[in-house]
Amino acid sequence: RTAPAVIVAIDGPSGTGKSSTSKAVAAQLGLSYLDTGAQYRAITWWMVTNGIDITDPTAVAAVAGKPEIVSGTDPSAPTITVDGTDVSGPIRTQEVTSKVSAVSAVPEIRARITELQRSLAASAQNGIVVEGRDIGTTVLPDADLKIFLTASPEARAARRSGELKGADLHATREALIKRDTADSSRKTSPLAKAGDAVEVDTTDLTLQQVIECVVTLVEEKRAAK
Ligand code: DC
Repeated sequence: RTAPAVIVAIDGPSGTGKSSTSKAVAAQLGLSYLDTGAQYRAITWWMVTNGIDITDPTAVAAVAGKPEIVSGTDPSAPTITVDGTDVSGPIRTQEVTSKVSAVSAVPEIRARITELQRSLAASAQNGIVVEGRDIGTTVLPDADLKIFLTASPEARAARRSGELKGADLHATREALIKRDTADSSRKTSPLAKAGDAVEVDTTDLTLQQVIECVVTLVEEKRAAK
């Protein structure tokens, strides 16, 4: 028989290896993959491009339903478009990164994006790995497996500055802590570990070790279904 569909939620702050881990686990196990941070970045990109004042939550809420955001969920080639335009490059700029916390704190934005996430999870044939900040707590509270990835601020800053070639370690660490604090302290579905999530501290683990750990946990869940 074919393996039953399995829903995996992977949450945690930035720089813990969420994206690399989630993509690799989904690819190894034949599951779909959804990067929910990319969706918040995409809607932020649209706000910036259209001159919306992102410091005004009312202005942001008023246009929350306007852009059409489409995510491709193949883990070997994830895609994201806004009104048909591929924005996978532009959503990674410093400008979008510095503005995404403000936009994603607006309840109307979260409601809109959460609906997209639930419908993608429901339509994934073999199951899906969904990574973000509030997946286990809010988006998919009935997920089969919830993982919460952590790492020391030093390890997270080092990983991020490795990705952004030549970036200053201290500045990266400060920007990352600022974003995590904003994401953890907002009113609507903040970054938080679900009570039934498995916490994995990745500080002293290689990416390969984290992937193996999560793959094993998913396989155990699948076997028990
Ligand atoms: O994972 P990332 O760094 O690409 O996420 C970008 C931002 O989006 C992050 O600072 C907070 C927000 N986000 C969120 O509020 N909820 C999610 N499920 C995922 C991301």
